[in-house]
Amino acid sequence: MNIEFNLNGSMQRVTITSVERALDVLIRQCDVKSLPGTCLEGQCGGCLVLIDNKPAYSCLMPAFTLRDRRVETIEYFTKTREYNFLYSELSKEGTALCSSCHNGIMLMGMALLRRTLTPARDEILNTLANVHCDSISPDDFADAVLKTIQHLAIARKTP
Ligand code: FES
Repeated sequence: MNIEFNLNGSMQRVTITSVERALDVLIRQCDVKSLPGTCLEGQCGGCLVLIDNKPAYSCLMPAFTLRDRRVETIEYFTKTREYNFLYSELSKEGTALCSSCHNGIMLMGMALLRRTLTPARDEILNTLANVHCDSISPDDFADAVLKTIQHLAIARKTP
C-alpha cells in the first residue's frame, strides 16, 4: 500500500507492506540516519521519533500508522538553539551519550521544551522515565534542561 506523511517538513510517499515497522521505513525508504534502533522492543530509545509532537518508539509502530502524520527526527532539531543549548549543557555535565541515548534523550528534551518553558522539576525528571540510559542521571538532565531554558530566555532578550 502507499502512504504519505510529513517527515521533518517534507512530504514523503512510500510503498509499504502490512508487516513493516515504521522504523524500517524511515531508515530504508526515507534515509533517516539518526535512528540506531537496536533492541526493537521499546527499551533503548534509539528509534524514538516525534509523531504529531509526541514521542513514539518507531520500532513498535506498524508503518501504516505513519499515514498522514507529522514525523520529526532529531535531524529536524540539530540546528535549533534549543538543541545546541541542551547539548552544550549536557556536555558540561560530563555526559557522553551513546548514539541510542543521544537520540532518545535529545528528542525527549526537544519535545519537553516545545511543550513548555516553565516545567516543574518533577515534569523534567518524568521525561526520562521511558528512556533507559546509564550515561546520565535524571537530575543531571533536569539541571541541563533548566539551564537551557535560562539560555533561551537570555537569547530572546538579545537583539
Ligand atoms: S529500537 Fe526501539 S526502543 Fe530500541
